Amino acid sequence: MNISILGIPMDLGAGRRGVDMGPSALRNAQLAGALRKLGHEVRDLGDVGVRIKETLDAHEEHGWIFRDSIFDACAAACERLLELPDDTFPISIGGDHSVSMGTVAGCARGRRTGLIWVDAHTDFNTPESSPSGNIHGMPVSHLIGLGDEKLRSIGGDWFLRPEDIVMIGIRSVDPEEREMVRAHGVTVYTMKEVDQLGITRIAGETLERLGGLEALHVSFDADALDPTVAPGVGTPVPGGLTYREAHLLMELFSDSGRVTSMDIVEVNPILDAYNQTAQIMVGMAESLAGKRIL
Ligand code: ARG
Ligand code: MN
Ligand code: MN
Ligand code: MN
Repeated sequence: MNISILGIPMDLGAGRRGVDMGPSALRNAQLAGALRKLGHEVRDLGDVGVRIKETLDAHEEHGWIFRDSIFDACAAACERLLELPDDTFPISIGGDHSVSMGTVAGCARGRRTGLIWVDAHTDFNTPESSPSGNIHGMPVSHLIGLGDEKLRSIGGDWFLRPEDIVMIGIRSVDPEEREMVRAHGVTVYTMKEVDQLGITRIAGETLERLGGLEALHVSFDADALDPTVAPGVGTPVPGGLTYREAHLLMELFSDSGRVTSMDIVEVNPILDAYNQTAQIMVGMAESLAGKRIL
């Protein structure tokens, strides 16, 4: 594959500092080198420009926390991804999960796209429903056209369909968010289903559900993993995916040959231990890119 890596060093959407260093941590953990070893052609496109928190006034931006600066970074990421040749497999590295408002739209290139959201959280809040006001809890609602007028315009007139979204690893959902996820008919495998059904069945059902779609995007939030496995995240929730469950999920998606792009987000080196979380996420990218034990 021709893989392109794009960094979005942004923490404006998160409540805690440090995910802006995620791209550095992932590069330090040899993301590009590991993928090259698998035989892929890998190009690192560098980072898109992101404003620095200390230079901004939080409440300057139309009442929403850093809305305009987040919009600008997501729009820049979207534009950069749209410029890539059609045969490219983009891996976008965050940054907090608000970057996906730009990366999913940019990777979709106008195609009807299936979104596989691997996360502890559904990130389906709108500015009205969010208890924290943090925009990293809101990307999915904006990708289907809800929420703030400006943020939902990042992908132009392209929107994801709620029936084309599958979420896996979920274990933390806010009260109003829960009602919206249900009302829109998003497919959600909570940790209860992971325990009950197992990853093999969930991966199979996910691929079947998104069967007719030509583009599949995996958006992998490091906090989907259990915090004992991936401690370097800003919003840890106990009871997450084990190391092997997450690898198996990536391996089965890779076997299908149908995934066309990926995000790696929410890696926070400040809260990590010896860059363990970045290293584990590089492993996830390797499994999705075809690395096998034998
Ligand atoms: N539901 C919470 C909120 O909206 C937490 C969101 C965490 N999202 C994330 N991408 N880590 O504030
Ligand atoms: Mn998330
Ligand atoms: Mn999360
Ligand atoms: Mn389990």
